[in-house]
Amino acid sequence: MSRQQRKLEHIKYALESNQEGWSPFDDMEIVHQSVTSLHWEDIDLQTNVGGLALSSPLFVNAMTGGGGSKTEKINGQLAAAAAVTGIGMSVGSQMSALKDPSEEPSYRIVRKENPHGIIFANVGTESTVEQAQRAVDMLEADALQIHLNVLQELIMPEGDRNFRNMESRIESIVQGISVPVIVKEVGHGLSKETARKLRELGVRYLDSAGKGGTSFSKVENRRRKDPLSVFDGWGIPTPASVKEIREVLPDTHLFASGGIRNGMDGAKSLILGAEGFGMAGSLLKVLMEDGMDALLNRIGAVHEELRIIMMLLNCRQPKQLAGKPYVVTGYLKEWLEKRAT
Ligand code: FNR
Repeated sequence: MSRQQRKLEHIKYALESNQEGWSPFDDMEIVHQSVTSLHWEDIDLQTNVGGLALSSPLFVNAMTGGGGSKTEKINGQLAAAAAVTGIGMSVGSQMSALKDPSEEPSYRIVRKENPHGIIFANVGTESTVEQAQRAVDMLEADALQIHLNVLQELIMPEGDRNFRNMESRIESIVQGISVPVIVKEVGHGLSKETARKLRELGVRYLDSAGKGGTSFSKVENRRRKDPLSVFDGWGIPTPASVKEIREVLPDTHLFASGGIRNGMDGAKSLILGAEGFGMAGSLLKVLMEDGMDALLNRIGAVHEELRIIMMLLNCRQPKQLAGKPYVVTGYLKEWLEKRAT
């Protein structure tokens, strides 16, 4: 199967397997507060995450590119929506364009549609420093994401089996690249142990990309004749990943993603200590099923929900949400309590 065909299958199966109905964020409730001292116009969604000046904590997380004109169209629409709403955006893995320059337009469209926006490039850990820099240059990107997807590769019949150089590659890219490097998962979550390891390698920006939304083990299982379905539920729930990373690494810049469906889930991730949050599958689903206007409405709704919660909790800026009172119940409570060591 060609890489291009694989990219299109990822979109198809990610849309089919997105767990719209359930997220571990349902097991977390923000405690309502009744007195505020703010005017609606005091609420300012702008936020700085390390060296990245974002006009909103929300960004469109890495999804596509490398699947010819179909993925060029999707990336163009996502980028146009990001430009109109002033949110950041990441592209899917650029390894395909680094290996086959005819795929570059499916990524370059993002900078074309959003000349002044915040854009993240994206590579895997097989990337050399030189390839990573080319991925950044291709988009004039403001940051580079490196995705960690060992489980996905192992479930993919044609996937990589050799990760011996993973740590040294990450370390070299962090040292050799001119923009912030964000290390992320693909729906299985970063643990505190992984986060500490990445910190030792020099990584200063993380994205939890946890369990609760799109799962790439599930997506790859849909592509297999003999699914390894025991891995369908594998991973660390996003709120647990964010909470445990923040507890051990108070100074690391942290994005939340994985199963974030709305502004309420986003606000919960900020309360747990994330500084920004990404949405991937749920935004793609809106775009593909209901079109561009619906996508713009959804992003607008996420912002409005977030502003309302900030108003209720008396927070002028997204960072002031950190540490606000909440209650956890059910599965998430058990996970947090039973997590060994
Ligand atoms: C992804 N994701 C992803 N991540 C990455 O770093 N590189 C990639 O190429 C892709 N490709 C990709 C394709 C599609 C169709 C989807 C839906 C997702 C993973 C994505 O960035 C994110 O980490 C997970 O999808 C979890 O977030 P959601 O979907 O639950 O919001």
